[in-house]
Amino acid sequence: MSAYHKSALPRGHELAEYTIESVLGHGGFGITYLAHDTSLGAKVAIKEYLPHDMASRGENTKILPNLDTKNAVKDYHWGLKRFLKEAQALAQFKHSNIVRVLRYMKANDTAYMVMEYEKGQSLGQYLRQHGNRMKEADLLQIVLPILNGLEAVHAAGMLHLDIKPDNIYLREDNTPMLIDFGSARQAMSGHGQRTILTPGYAPIEQYPDKGEQGPWTDIYALGASMYRCFHGKRPTESLDRYQMILKYHADPMTPVNKIGNRKLQEKTIKCMEWALQCFPTDRPKSAREFQDALLGKKTVSFSSALPIEKKGEAVNSHAHEDKAALHRKIKPAIYTLLLAITFFVILYFWSEIVAYVPTAKKMASDAYRDGLEITKNLKQIILDKL
Ligand SMILES: Nc1ncnc2c1ncn2[C@@H]1O[C@H](COP(=O)(O)OP(=O)(O)OP(=O)(O)O)[C@@H](O)[C@H]1O
Ligand SMILES: [Mg+2]
Repeated sequence: MSAYHKSALPRGHELAEYTIESVLGHGGFGITYLAHDTSLGAKVAIKEYLPHDMASRGENTKILPNLDTKNAVKDYHWGLKRFLKEAQALAQFKHSNIVRVLRYMKANDTAYMVMEYEKGQSLGQYLRQHGNRMKEADLLQIVLPILNGLEAVHAAGMLHLDIKPDNIYLREDNTPMLIDFGSARQAMSGHGQRTILTPGYAPIEQYPDKGEQGPWTDIYALGASMYRCFHGKRPTESLDRYQMILKYHADPMTPVNKIGNRKLQEKTIKCMEWALQCFPTDRPKSAREFQDALLGKKTVSFSSALPIEKKGEAVNSHAHEDKAALHRKIKPAIYTLLLAITFFVILYFWSEIVAYVPTAKKMASDAYRDGLEITKNLKQIILDKL
């Protein structure tokens, strides 16, 4: 359980039929409380919309947009609408791998999402307590059901957009569920806000003007979460990978087959490589496709490479890698060849060059003399006219 947050509602605060008990977590966009439902006698988790960089709590527990920040009022209300829309959309789901949203409400000039409280911890917390790594079989028991949840989310036309170990919650019986959907945040980044994403987990298309988002965007983040669970570290930020690959340099991310856990099955390695492809069209297109590959029902065939979009050109990431390697190899050879050609050309024409030097010198001095003569004549003509 997280330390009490300075902007949080106080313990014992009554919000409709709920009494605030403690803070479960807080991020840049809100505070999540553990609360008691006094009418049903059950525990609930309540998420409060409180984007810290554009609003704060006033004295009477109400949330006030920061008036000194440009556009804060407009952005705050726009985000609030998105938060409510997202809560509304999530409330439609009754899926064991998606957090259960019971209701949403407005109060304190902000909004609240009331969720079923589940005892357990996030995968991020689990990793921090267990040496930062996880066994393959244990992780697959989390990832495979999460893909069922993700498939349902995508089928409803939504995207999660912030999948990472901290947003995968493990119930006490170890069944996993997705929490903390980031689409409202992502939408705000297109609304004059800075880009809001989690480096290492967010693929390239979550950066401004870097491609279309879709189910493949969540699949990258899930692949990155798997990588983190095996490697102990998140993958290299996708923007750095993208920039290096476009310059024909090697991908700076430690390859999946080198992340130190030799106990991984070949199939799992291939699937992670597939999910972590830098370019969106090289990745699995759907949660089902990725799940089938992890289960061995489908052969991972991304090495035959799907086309990627680069400024309208269809290119291919593997051809791209091969081209990069070729480029690095032939560059010095081309320079050496050019140098040799220049050297031989100079050598071949050396006698003419040497013979030409006095002629060139003479021509230059003749031109100088002629120039002087012309200037002198011109001067005379001007003086005569005057
Ligand atoms: N339904 C729930 N049941 C139990 N605990 C929950 C539930 N939802 C969230 N939590 C706990 O609250 C923590 C924070 O929740 P959440 O991930 O939704 O928000 P956040 O990351 O703190 O905020 P932000 O949306 O600003 O990034 C989670 O890590 C989890 O421990
Ligand atoms: Mg979170």
